[in-house]
Amino acid sequence: MAREIKIIEYGIIDSTNLQARRLIEGASGAEIQPTVLLADGQTAGRGRLGRSFYSPTDTGLYASLILESPSSLDKLLSLTALAAVAASEAIEAAFGINVGIKWVNDLYYNERKIAGILAESCISGTKRYIILGIGINLSTESFPDDILLKAGSLGVTKVTAKEKRELATDLFARLLDLLDCDDTSGAMNIYRARSTVIGKRVSFLQNGTENTATALGVTDLGALTVRLDSGETLELSSGEISIFVQKEQL
Ligand code: BTN
Repeated sequence: MAREIKIIEYGIIDSTNLQARRLIEGASGAEIQPTVLLADGQTAGRGRLGRSFYSPTDTGLYASLILESPSSLDKLLSLTALAAVAASEAIEAAFGINVGIKWVNDLYYNERKIAGILAESCISGTKRYIILGIGINLSTESFPDDILLKAGSLGVTKVTAKEKRELATDLFARLLDLLDCDDTSGAMNIYRARSTVIGKRVSFLQNGTENTATALGVTDLGALTVRLDSGETLELSSGEISIFVQKEQL
């Protein structure tokens, strides 16, 4: 039987992640999860690393799932990688579009970022919750200057409110199913198959130093294994990498 997930819909709000935090803090022990918050638009969409997430009204899916924090450390560590798998599979099922995953959890289509994932934690009483927010640019056509060269959209024709609800429900149901699985190695194989990073030359900042390396693989817990130019092998568990774009041979 399909999983029951409560959905609360909003018009334009500041951020579904912020609203989720307010709901958790106001719930005072009442059962609050799993609940999905879905908004038409956001005025203060939040991104990773203190950035904002551009969330124009009606052209994207902006949603947050409230769930109790997984008791398994492994599940907690791989949560955002599993969310990227769930989102890319749900997008493919809905639109037949095959998206790539750029480590850790950005989704790419036609070499543009079309979706981002932000996991935050929130404690209320004795319980710890995760707020798992995802923003997908479905039909957004124009972007502000600071993300103009990087952001893109799936380019689908305007998606109805019902279709957005179905997409959000399917996406988060897939994630909850993965979190219930004892063995997520199959999902991580999908992650690796969708990776836009494995085998590429990358750069990243570590302790203020810029490193260049080759991305070797992604572990079952979502860490990126890289070989530095010095020959040393490292596992990156969080952060951000840039992929070198191959210059055309002259
Ligand atoms: C990123 O790309 O840095 C993560 C972006 C996450 C955006 C989503 S949109 C729904 C939810 N509410 C927010 O304020 N942020 C997340």
